[in-house]
Amino acid sequence: MPASAPIIAPSILASDFARLGEEARAIEAAGADWLHVDVMDGHFVPNITIGPDVVKALRPHVSIPFDVHLMIAPVDPFLDAFREAGADHILIHPEAGPHLNRSLKHIRKIGAKAGVVFNPSTLPETIEWMMDEVDLILVMSINPGFGGQSFMTSQLRKIERLREMIDATGRDIPLEVDGGVTPETAPLCLSAGATALVAGTAVFRGGPERYAENIRALRGG
Ligand code: DX5
Ligand code: ZN
Repeated sequence: MPASAPIIAPSILASDFARLGEEARAIEAAGADWLHVDVMDGHFVPNITIGPDVVKALRPHVSIPFDVHLMIAPVDPFLDAFREAGADHILIHPEAGPHLNRSLKHIRKIGAKAGVVFNPSTLPETIEWMMDEVDLILVMSINPGFGGQSFMTSQLRKIERLREMIDATGRDIPLEVDGGVTPETAPLCLSAGATALVAGTAVFRGGPERYAENIRALRGG
């Protein structure tokens, strides 16, 4: 695999929820780099998924990092619970709490990597004065809440802008894209400067015997 190969983070949201542990193991065996876990509360986004107990139950099944995307508000009261459940990366939306900087500092303090998620309307400048506090950046290329939506090309310019902001730090901050990522849209994300691809539908389609092939297709074949 070339050094520039993108990080692939399959979203467990698109898996068979009745067989979550098995699905996580199959995804790791198929070559996934991280497991992306979408947490939704029916309030911040119009859908409900899983909580810390499910993350905790999944944790022993695989050893790849858990990239936990929190779509819940308020988010602060649940940061510790997700860390204790085994989240390695905790990604939060600026809109989900009153003090983004304080929340990011807290995530680091409890030993996880701190990530910021950009909704399609969230400005890149939101983190301009706190790049030192950020370990991961995720650009949503859909409105959060559901898998299977179409990629919004309007977000490519934002990926480019955040790439410039990351490069200016001199740090290797992963730049993730989430939503509608397919073998067709992945190259657009990578050209714009993304280094990590989150994908649900494109990885899980066809069932377990297709996972490795689907992941390879996202990496560019
Ligand atoms: C949506 C989630 C995504 C979702 C992506 O709010 O954040 O991670 O699972 O699903 P696809 O890849 O199907 O667009
Ligand atoms: Zn997500």
